Amino acid sequence: MKVGMLTAGGDCPGLNAVIRAASRKLIAEGHHPVGLIAGYRGLAERNFVDLDRGQIRGILQLGGTIISTSSYNPYREPNGVELVKRAVDEEGFDAIIAIGGEHTMMMTRRLYVEEGIPTIGVPKTIDNDVTGTDFTFGFDTAVQVATDAIDRLHTTAASHNRIMVLEVMGRNSGWIALFSAIAGGADGVLIPELDISVEEMSEALTRRHESGANFSIIVVAEGANLAFASGETRQVLANETTDEYGYPRLGGIGAALAEELEQETGFETRVTVLGHVQRGGTPTAHDRLLATRYGIKAAELAINREYGNMAALRGTEVVSVPLSDVTGVKTVDLNYLQVARAFFG
Ligand code: F6P
Repeated sequence: MKVGMLTAGGDCPGLNAVIRAASRKLIAEGHHPVGLIAGYRGLAERNFVDLDRGQIRGILQLGGTIISTSSYNPYREPNGVELVKRAVDEEGFDAIIAIGGEHTMMMTRRLYVEEGIPTIGVPKTIDNDVTGTDFTFGFDTAVQVATDAIDRLHTTAASHNRIMVLEVMGRNSGWIALFSAIAGGADGVLIPELDISVEEMSEALTRRHESGANFSIIVVAEGANLAFASGETRQVLANETTDEYGYPRLGGIGAALAEELEQETGFETRVTVLGHVQRGGTPTAHDRLLATRYGIKAAELAINREYGNMAALRGTEVVSVPLSDVTGVKTVDLNYLQVARAFFG
């Protein structure tokens, strides 16, 4: 079989581990893995690279993606779907493994259902917001980076008697914020799923400082709202532009929240924005393991011609779920907020 493999959307740690695992499994079974450069664009424009043993050697621990990524969407490009279809037929691809987030999974399902293209999905994103799977790879690494940052903020915060606000990624969901807040022992967290007013947070911080603490750490997801007791809420944007999906460019909630908290509590408040540091670099062992298991599963789905499915984690098992199960955003499990709250105030 000739199996195309692509990475689409934002990169995340572990993409290369999937590519390596799926390719190794395919090669071992006598098949031919091919990398499609820069997502579906590589398929439409027929920009390929053989994923032979030499090409995939030494990439397990490497961040980013050796086959590049893009947000090219065939449904949005002139003749995009036709170009993709013709490339699959004329180049003789028996399966296409698409490694991507929610948007990639949705276009991958459409290509299978509407065009009969033999696609298979693998869910990725540091945000862990893809439905149909319990966890995506890349998430654990991002949480570790954020947790390390909280650890570092602790010592400097304590030395200066300050509130430190850490802004982490999470456009639609608070997974990274909540997990790192618990793991790092933060004193407050703000996530897109639940508005907490500046006044309510300030009261908790004041109580904490009155009870003897001389510093506090707040973690805020970039997609969280700035909310006030008056009922006013707003999302903070980096600028007026939108990204390739039409989403507003987020960023700045950390600084906005810090300003409000400083005013409300009277404590000096500083902000740190982690940004793309959370997405780059070496995947954790956990992410390498998950990505490797996903890669093997995706290769098996291709070999068994079980198209229209996605590799997914359910509990501790890597299973196959229909791509149609990927609908909307997977918001954070609010039970984790109860755990985090036990340490606030
Ligand atoms: O989806 C992952 C993510 O890191 C989001 O948390 C963030 O909003 C977005 O990607 C940033 O994307 P870009 O690299 O296009 O700025």
